[in-house]
Order: sequence, then C-alpha cells, then structure tokens
Amino acid sequence: ATDPVKLSKQEVGKAAAALVESGSIVGLGTGSTTAYAIEFIGNRLKSGELKDIVGVPTSFQAEVLAKQYGIPLTTLDAIDHIDIAIDGADEVDPQKNLIKGGGAAHTREKVVDYFASRFIVVVDGAKLVERLGSVFPVPVEVIPMAVGPVTLALEKLGGKPELRMGVKKAGPVITDQGNMVLDVKFDTIDNPEELEKILNNIPGVLENGIFVNCADVVLIGEVKDGQPVVR
Ligand code: A5P
Repeated sequence: ATDPVKLSKQEVGKAAAALVESGSIVGLGTGSTTAYAIEFIGNRLKSGELKDIVGVPTSFQAEVLAKQYGIPLTTLDAIDHIDIAIDGADEVDPQKNLIKGGGAAHTREKVVDYFASRFIVVVDGAKLVERLGSVFPVPVEVIPMAVGPVTLALEKLGGKPELRMGVKKAGPVITDQGNMVLDVKFDTIDNPEELEKILNNIPGVLENGIFVNCADVVLIGEVKDGQPVVR
C-alpha cells in the first residue's frame, strides 16, 4: 500500500493486534482499520505465536472477517468478560471521547467495547478533532416505525438529521439489527456526555454513536517522511 491513509490504518491495526495475548477473549470492532487488526490477529494465530483466542464480533462484517482469518468466535451469553476490544472511530477528541457508527455498527460496538476490560481505539490521524461533531454527524439507530417522530425530536434539539441511504442498495441502510440510521449534524457539541443521554432518551432510539469514558488507549497511525508510525 502506498496510499498514506491505508498505510496508517494498516500499521495501527498491526500495533493493536500485537497487544492481544494468548488465552484472551477479544472484542472485534468494525470498519476498515479494525479489519487490519483482525487480519494481523489471524496471522499471529496461524503462525502459532498466539494461542487460545476467542473473538466477539461487533457486526456481521467483523464476523465474516474473523471467519476468513481463522479466529474462533463466541457470543456474549457464553462468556463473563472480554479482556480487550479493538475498534475504530470516526472522531476522537482530546478526552478520548468518540463518535462511532460510520459503519452503522455502533450499537453492538457500544455493548462490546464498554464490556471490555481494555478498549483500544485504532484510528488514522485524520480522525482527531478538538471537539466532537466538528466534521462527523452523530449516527443514531432508530427502529423503523419511529423514524418520523425521532426526526422531529432531533430537529427540536437543534440537530439536522438525515436518513442514511444505501450505496449499493435502493432505500435506507438497514443495520444488523434491522433498524435505520439518522445521521445528525449538530453545530457544536459542548457536552458529549449529556447529548449521549438526551439522544438515547428519545422513544424509538436504540443507541447513538457518542462514546464517553469508554476508550482506554487511542493508537494513532500516521505517515511521516513516507514511513508509517504509530503513537
Ligand atoms: C462502525 O460503525 C464505526 O464505528 C467504525 O468503527 C468507524 O466507522 C471506523 O471505520 P474506519 O476504520 O473504516 O474509518
């Protein structure tokens, strides 16, 4: 890969995969950066360097990739803890608060990432912001029959909600749970912790993409003088 963003994602995925220890239960995130982590965990398993790993996927995408790279999987009802979760993000602020859900997987991601003893975020440098919501809208997963009233409620809160539409599909994006996603642009998000709660209090909202006090470590991939570095 010569594309700097791709190189950064690859390097940071590798760095996160290196943190996984034998015998651990690993939360497997969603997105193009975590996909590299899943690939590298699979490589470490295949080489015998890593043993007795079991993964908990945060999405159908993660499940498919884990199977492809030979990572055995389990479900939350079969375990009582997760040792480490690795997941990407769409925005990261200096307090390690996140916006997630660019892949419409934030609901399951939130369950798995919060449950993990250690949550490692993997991003390329472009995801860093001073304030959440600067670039990325907040994804809100909504049950289909409630899209109308939830849209109005979000507008009342000062947001600009847009129903996420499919790219290679006619009509709206449908999540792994069979719901829809409203991407809500807010002018400023002064208090992410408060907004997270307010959004989840709207009847019909399943979960939103603001993650507060969840990330333990943020690994940032960048390319400096043509070389990928992780900090
Ligand atoms: C999935 O719903 C998101 O939370 C992803 O983790 C996020 O979109 C990061 O994706 P990339 O690593 O592809 O940027």
